[in-house]
Amino acid sequence: MGISIGMVGIGAFGKAFIRSFRDHPLVGRIALCDLSAERLATCAREFQIEETYTSLDDICRSSIQALVIITQPQYHAAQAIQAMEAGKHVYTAVPVMYGPDGDELLEWCDKLVNTVKRTGMIYMLGETTFFRKETIYCRRRAAEGAFGQFVYGEGEYLHDWSLGLAQVARNRRLSPDTRLEETLARDPRRASARSGPMHYPTHSVSGVVSVMGAHMTEVSALGHIYEGPDSPASVEPPGGQPVFSNEVGLFRMSNGATARICEFRRVGHTGREGFRMFGTAGSFVSDVSGAKWVTPRSWEPLDLSGEKEPLPDPLASDLGGHGGSHAYLAHEFVDSVSRGRLPRINLWEALRYFVPGVMAHKSALRGGELLKIPDWGDPPA
Ligand SMILES: NC(=O)c1ccc[n+]([C@@H]2O[C@H](COP(=O)([O-])OP(=O)(O)OC[C@H]3O[C@@H](n4cnc5c(N)ncnc54)[C@H](O)[C@@H]3O)[C@@H](O)[C@H]2O)c1
Repeated sequence: MGISIGMVGIGAFGKAFIRSFRDHPLVGRIALCDLSAERLATCAREFQIEETYTSLDDICRSSIQALVIITQPQYHAAQAIQAMEAGKHVYTAVPVMYGPDGDELLEWCDKLVNTVKRTGMIYMLGETTFFRKETIYCRRRAAEGAFGQFVYGEGEYLHDWSLGLAQVARNRRLSPDTRLEETLARDPRRASARSGPMHYPTHSVSGVVSVMGAHMTEVSALGHIYEGPDSPASVEPPGGQPVFSNEVGLFRMSNGATARICEFRRVGHTGREGFRMFGTAGSFVSDVSGAKWVTPRSWEPLDLSGEKEPLPDPLASDLGGHGGSHAYLAHEFVDSVSRGRLPRINLWEALRYFVPGVMAHKSALRGGELLKIPDWGDPPA
């Protein structure tokens, strides 16, 4: 008899994870949960899952052990806390929490740490970049010492507003029956345009942090304001703050290296989540033309198609989207819950992917002021 999993939020992204969790050999019972009766019925039929719940409140009253929360980003932390208080282990999609107020986001980080410590439940963040082939490759090379000493890293999440983001903002309403304007009126934190792209930093930060095994300690960032008709500012009303379409941050790392992070939402580019990493002995560079390993005397193109970590069948044969990361994320959570172990993307690690962005946006709002980045430390033993 395996563990029991409830999938909360089976919208555009959550649906893409149902198969990996349902088919995991350590999962014995799976349930679906969504506010939308239509989404629930469609997915229950498509994935042949009988057990369904119509809200998080409902599924929290069930005997399900662990919840995979893939709801709108501004609910993640509050819903994770509700689930842990109800005795459920939790996984949430990125980011840790979302909203325009950096101070409030930091308060949510504190609340999450206190809840994990008090309840003893498992928390994992579903950061897809952690299990991309590039990241798996670089972590392996770093463990071999191939980089030498790290000197510099670059991470970026380039996603032009025109490539579906306006539609995503419209889709992520409180419920499919609620109009965007009503959602904004009912939930001011929904005003994503006011948040600045650095409030969604985990794709760009996590590669650098997880490969170096170091965290970011200081940041100076600047923002770019695009004022064309298709800017994020024209979709949602600004709230007295500049509306940055793009933000760039320069970071100091705990290992002495430096890093540069770009979060761009208005850029002539096909889109990219990736990083480059420079060491004294070797460097990993990657862009739209592919990945390369570079040393002082040579460089070679990399074929990363065979790069992998162990996965049980049948997940190994269907890795899913975002660079094949979906199956790994599902396995990491299920395995952590089954064995009662700390997930690799535990809360303390997750905060090191998230808080640098919160502080970068604060710095950009203050014209690039150098700011210290709060750190909650390593996970308790
Ligand atoms: N690469 C990545 O890691 C990546 C990619 C895409 C999306 N995401 C994240 O995934 C999340 C979901 O995105 P999406 O596009 O699927 O959103 P979506 O709006 O399509 O789906 C969210 C679903 O959650 C449901 N929901 C909300 N509150 C609920 C509650 N209390 N009880 C039950 N169901 C509830 C909604 O009804 C909706 O169906 C976002 O937070 C986003 O940041 C991450």
